[in-house]
Amino acid sequence: MELSAILQRTRSICVLTGAGISAESGVPTFRSVDGLWNKFRPEQLANFGAFIRDPKLVWEWYNYRRKILETVNPNPGHIAIARMEEMVHDFTLATQNVDNLHRRAGNKRVLELHGNITQSHCIDCGTRDDRPDCSDENKTPRCKSCGGLIRPAVVWFGEMLPQDVFEEAKRAAQRCDLFLSVGTSALVYPAASLPMAAKQAGAYTVEINIERTEQSGMFDETLLGRAGEILPLIADSIQLNKGVKA
Ligand code: APR
Repeated sequence: MELSAILQRTRSICVLTGAGISAESGVPTFRSVDGLWNKFRPEQLANFGAFIRDPKLVWEWYNYRRKILETVNPNPGHIAIARMEEMVHDFTLATQNVDNLHRRAGNKRVLELHGNITQSHCIDCGTRDDRPDCSDENKTPRCKSCGGLIRPAVVWFGEMLPQDVFEEAKRAAQRCDLFLSVGTSALVYPAASLPMAAKQAGAYTVEINIERTEQSGMFDETLLGRAGEILPLIADSIQLNKGVKA
C-alpha cells in the first residue's frame, strides 16, 4: 500500500511535527549542524535547575528566540497542515514546537506537547504573564502578584509533558488511519513514542524529513524532502480525493 492509495480513503489523520517544519521559516532547529544545541548546552539553558541558578541567562536565551519569532512567518508546510484540519473531519495536530507558527498558520486545535514560548507564568503562584517585563537586562521578570520568578511556559528536560495534552495526542495516534511525522529527529520522548503507538494500532505511518532518522526503519514510508514542498502535495491530494473546492 502506498501513501497515494491511503489518501484516497483516509478518514482520520494525526500529524506530529518537530523543529524541521519551521526551519523553512528561518527558525533554527536543535540538532542540525548549525542547530541550537551545537551553540548552547541544553543543561545550561533548558532545565529548571539551570533556570533557578541563572534565570537571567535563561531569559536571555528565550528572549533571543522570541525575537527571532517576531521576524518569521508560517511557511507552506504549516499552511498545508492548516488546510488538512479544514478538510479532514478527525484531524489532530500534535507539535513539539513552541514557536506558535501552527496557530499563526490557521490551525485551530494544536496539541502543544512542549508548551508555547509566547506564554509564561510565575513559578510560585502560577499567575500567567505573557508579557513579562524584560526591559531591564540586569533583572529577571517577576510576578506582579507575588514577586516570584516568571518562567517561559515551555517543557524543559526532566519535566513532565502536560499529561492531558499528551494523552489526547496518544489517543489520536491510536485512532488515526494515517500518521505523519514531520521534521523531527524523533529522539525526545515521550513525543517520539507517538509514531510507534500509531503503527501498533494499525495506522499507515509516514515520515517526512530531509534526511533519514533513527526511527526511519519503523515507518511504512519515509519521504525524503522539505516539509514545505511535500505537505502541500499531500494537502492537494486530500482535497482532490474529497472533491473539496479550492
Ligand atoms: N523539512 C523536513 N525536515 C526537516 C527540514 C525541512 N525543511 N529541515 C530540517 N528537518 C529535520 C532534520 O533533519 C531533523 O531530523 O527536522 C529534524 C529536526 O530535529 P531536531 O532539531 O532534533 O528537532 P525536534 O525533533 O523537534 O526536537 C525535539 O528536542 O530540544 C528539544 O524540546 C526541544 O521540541 C524539541 C525536541
